[in-house]
Amino acid sequence: MKAARLYVMGVLGVLIGVWAMSAGGCANEQQQKGHELYGHYCSHCHGESGRQNEGFNWSSMPDPKPKDLTNKSEMSTLKDVDIFNTISRDMKDTSEGGDVIGDDDFAVPTMPTFKYTLSEDEIWAIVGYVRGLHGMKMEFKVEERKKELAAALLTAQGNFDQATKTYEAAEKQASEEAEKKNVEVDDAVYAKEMAVMVQAKKDLDAAQAASNNLVTRPGKGVSVARPDLTVKPEQVAKMVELGHRLYENKYGCNGCHSLGAEGGKVGPALDRAGFRLNGTWIYRWLKNPQAMKPETRMPALGLSDADAKAVTMYLGTLRAPAQPDALIDKPVAPVEKPAS
Ligand code: HEC
Ligand code: HEC
Repeated sequence: MKAARLYVMGVLGVLIGVWAMSAGGCANEQQQKGHELYGHYCSHCHGESGRQNEGFNWSSMPDPKPKDLTNKSEMSTLKDVDIFNTISRDMKDTSEGGDVIGDDDFAVPTMPTFKYTLSEDEIWAIVGYVRGLHGMKMEFKVEERKKELAAALLTAQGNFDQATKTYEAAEKQASEEAEKKNVEVDDAVYAKEMAVMVQAKKDLDAAQAASNNLVTRPGKGVSVARPDLTVKPEQVAKMVELGHRLYENKYGCNGCHSLGAEGGKVGPALDRAGFRLNGTWIYRWLKNPQAMKPETRMPALGLSDADAKAVTMYLGTLRAPAQPDALIDKPVAPVEKPAS
């Protein structure tokens, strides 16, 4: 009797253990991933534990300073999806006459976007970690989102298959009728079916992209084509001016790079970028830094071709005179191991 009871308890214990490991194990993995990604991509500005003036870049940043992520009364006003949308957004040109920015839009240029650097899944892991910094728990259910995307993909595939069949049948019927009457096939007869199929293909591609983006980094495997950097002489000055504006007011490069005494120190000083770096290299780097150095802390900021060209032109003009090394080559943060 006693032995049997012990046996039952033993089995129960093992079962509970397995259950706890699978439930907790998965959550832990997500938490661990969020922690590592935060350490690699956020801590230099926001601090390892999210406090003011804790990150090594905090005091070098122009205003506004990186948000205090431990401030529960402020952070609790943001929903999980608001935090997600801040980390994963398109940068806005905050110059006068730049982009239209709504009252509720978050558009601080020196808070970079990670939309073009990390997968959606990774960004959710970071949101979960940020929640912990002010003692909250993420409520957003990533598993549900995954299921929704998978279901949407299945539906889109089904719609496309159906639309293809309908189109093929309509086309076949039209050509059979034309053959009977001995006339040319009239494309207009099945134009509607064709339009439906084309749309279904677009929807399928979009569902596929959303699904891929959930787990795959957007820049992965994307190589940047060699740019045409020629500019008409009369346009050079305007392009350089635009590049300067975008550098500060749209992409907040100054949050991480310094010019003279001003600016962040996450990346190297760019005072002499015009001497040291070649235009094609700069352009490619700006479009997809991870393609050239997978573990770099510099995110891909989603520069359009035109923006990348203007910023490249501007960097080409940065030709400060050489100074003693100690003055211009500020120490660059050591590059950490890849965070994936
Ligand atoms: C180059 C420095 C820098 C980096 C890197 C950085 N941030 Fe920020 N962050 C800022 C600045 C500046 C603000 C704006 C503060 C303000 O509006 O008062 C900000 C604001 C925020 C906010 C508040 C948004 C809101 O709606 O008010 C959150 C959340 C945040 N950052 C999270 C992150 C996370 C997570 C990462 C890493 C994936 C990150 N940040 C990386 C500088 C940075
Ligand atoms: C979140 C911080 C961050 C932001 C924002 C950022 N960079 Fe960087 N950048 C870096 C880091 C870090 C490096 C060093 C590369 C490495 O070794 O990982 C770097 C490297 C570079 C380099 C190569 C410098 C050299 O001497 O090798 C250039 C050029 C550059 N960045 C330009 C820009 C421009 C232009 C922008 C804005 C469009 C920008 N960066 C935005 C962090 C940043």
